[in-house]
Amino acid sequence: MSDIRDEVAAGFQEIYGSAPLGIWSAPGRANLIGEHTDYNEGFVLPFAINRRTVVALGAREDGVIRVASAFADEVAEIALSELAPERLRDWSAYPLGVAWALGQYGADLGAVPGVDLYIESTVPVGAGLSSSAAIESAVAVALNEVWQLGLSLQTLARVGQLAENKAVGAPTGIMDQSASLLGRHDQAVFLDCRSLESELVELGFADAGLELLVIDTGVSHDHSTGGYAARRASCELGARLMGVPALRDLGVEDLPRARDVLDDETFRRVRHIITENQRVIDTVTALRTEGPLAIGDLLYDSHISMRDDFEISVSELDLAVETAQANGAIGARMTGGGFGGAAIALVPSEGISRIQVAIDGAFAEHGFSQPTMFTVTASDGAGRN
Ligand code: GLA
Repeated sequence: MSDIRDEVAAGFQEIYGSAPLGIWSAPGRANLIGEHTDYNEGFVLPFAINRRTVVALGAREDGVIRVASAFADEVAEIALSELAPERLRDWSAYPLGVAWALGQYGADLGAVPGVDLYIESTVPVGAGLSSSAAIESAVAVALNEVWQLGLSLQTLARVGQLAENKAVGAPTGIMDQSASLLGRHDQAVFLDCRSLESELVELGFADAGLELLVIDTGVSHDHSTGGYAARRASCELGARLMGVPALRDLGVEDLPRARDVLDDETFRRVRHIITENQRVIDTVTALRTEGPLAIGDLLYDSHISMRDDFEISVSELDLAVETAQANGAIGARMTGGGFGGAAIALVPSEGISRIQVAIDGAFAEHGFSQPTMFTVTASDGAGRN
């Protein structure tokens, strides 16, 4: 990490002609289990990963915010008081959207000092590892400190979500920002997305001789279009027809009534959410009582539910999961919003290269582009440095 921090400081110096005031960073996340449950006010179990977005910040005398990055040619610039979601576009909508959203949570954008930001990231974009939440969370903790807002991490998660919903236009939930802000080394974040209460859960992968392999299919996804919003709408319809505020309020005992009340497609969307919430709770229990070797079936069942009931998987993700399962993985599933992105596989350390070779071979055989594979570890959430 020291390398990218040095690069970010040097990048800042080159663009803005002075040293930054400080450096903040935030990680991407992998979701162990609990998919599409967040906006249904249910449970999730993500963890922050050892890939981070780093932001260098300098204060300005005026009320202007500028953002620059290694991955964009232009420096975006706007007066803080003129920030509005409809004025934001491209990648700068993420950092500028956070500044705007902080205004919605009490920052006086007409009075706080302006800032210059320079951003770099080692979180792969489009892999379903929340490169966007990493930007939002890094900028949110930086501005929260420099503008002396004193907002809690839970509130900063809401700020990031608001930026994503309004400035970027993706109707996503609270999971990614929460994982990026609350994650801890070797722990997953067990989050109740209704109350935002969270508990850390020991993963213990290394002690059990396991590693978490990410298989990035390279199939791109975009949650500000199409499928994600359609799934969300189905869930809201299901809750309305079942007479509950959110699908979180239903349990497996409600499935027979749901089958009577709902059309087949809505029923299957609802069944995914109900069973997935239960799988999150069961995974937490299994991790705490038996350890990570006991969670394999829950991971695989989650994938099958997303493939068949929620219908958010793609052939490449299914192939990655099946091939991992067939070659010694403890469990595997797609992770994130779906329609592309990455799968995760929990694998014995000594079997990892065999699984990678098998996945490469299976992708070649099916005529799919080669996936990118790497391991991740659970890491600390956002903060200074
Ligand atoms: C995306 C969204 C999250 C969550 C997941 C699916 O990552 O940003 O809020 O809904 O999809 O679990």
